[in-house]
Amino acid sequence: MKTILTGIRSNSVLTLGNYLGALLPMVRLANKHSADYNINIFVPDLHSIISDIDGDLRENIVRTIKYYLAAGLEANDNVHIYRQSYVPAHSELCWILNCIATMGETSRMIQYKEKSKGQESCNVGIFDYPILMAADILLYDATYVPIGEDQFQHIELTRNLAMRFNHKFGEIFTVPAKTADQIKFMGVSDGIRIRDLLNPEKKMSKSTKAENSKILLDDDPAKAAKKIMSATTDSLAKVKFDMFNQPGVSNLLQIRALVSGTPLQEVISEWVGETRYGTLKRAVADGVAQMLKEFQDRMANISDEQVYDLLEKGEKYANEVANAKLLEAQKAFHLR
Ligand code: TYM
Repeated sequence: MKTILTGIRSNSVLTLGNYLGALLPMVRLANKHSADYNINIFVPDLHSIISDIDGDLRENIVRTIKYYLAAGLEANDNVHIYRQSYVPAHSELCWILNCIATMGETSRMIQYKEKSKGQESCNVGIFDYPILMAADILLYDATYVPIGEDQFQHIELTRNLAMRFNHKFGEIFTVPAKTADQIKFMGVSDGIRIRDLLNPEKKMSKSTKAENSKILLDDDPAKAAKKIMSATTDSLAKVKFDMFNQPGVSNLLQIRALVSGTPLQEVISEWVGETRYGTLKRAVADGVAQMLKEFQDRMANISDEQVYDLLEKGEKYANEVANAKLLEAQKAFHLR
């Protein structure tokens, strides 16, 4: 059985960008395929500690898993939920992969360049981040890794490391699907990147300081609607999907499509040519407020015990699978 695998860090409350760009599409994909794929959903807590954590990491992890359940994830026997640091094989394979990865290819990662920019000294974890991510994926022979557009470069690096390893030692790792095939499998026409509401050239990010630039999943729905109403658009006064010239308006169309579960193309046809941005904003704001309200109600009904039960089961499975794969990699290097 092939494997679909994904993860979201839990440094703080998630943004609408993480939710619409990664979590919700993942849940829809998982529900669609969980009869014939392994679905691995994990919390990369070791990736979390490369940067500051808002609140308590352990509580954030439980909340992140509740997000998946509140988003509608149907947990069955093929769905495995676990914490990265509870499966030590991730760190061990990361070290082995460090020894076949090059400084050159790792230094080229955009996320590393962005995260280290302007920092006097950058921690080594930020640099090594994509190699640990490769270990997360390769340990489970994952074919599909649904993620947002900002992470595609890391998938390409993972593919290169897997191919290099296999070339040297024989077919040990499954090479994940190419970016284009990942996108096709996710059922989106392109990668999804929800933009910052005030500076739509940038992605919506947890770490942006300005309150009105991002919507958080625990925002009061009315407050979230106001943020949409004050989103930056442009002066062209004509709705068109054009991320390059009209990123603000295009972002609103994208959000509208994802919130309502309607294909983007349909939403574009419905709104193209509209001259009053206020009308589009109102529709998006109402949709987001309604979605948040329903989501928050569901969150309130999920208990911590439910989460810990799933983790116990998931971590037992993950350790079995990951340790078997790690052993193959260790044998390749004559460590075993
Ligand atoms: P993280 O937590 O930084 O991001 C989680 C996911 O959210 C997506 N994302 C967005 N999508 C659309 N619009 C946005 N504004 C936006 N902001 C974030 C990211 O693309 C990502 O899919 N490195 C991963 C975590 C990870 C992982 C893995 C994922 C570690 N190991 C192995 C898959 C497989 C990350 O970026 O987390």
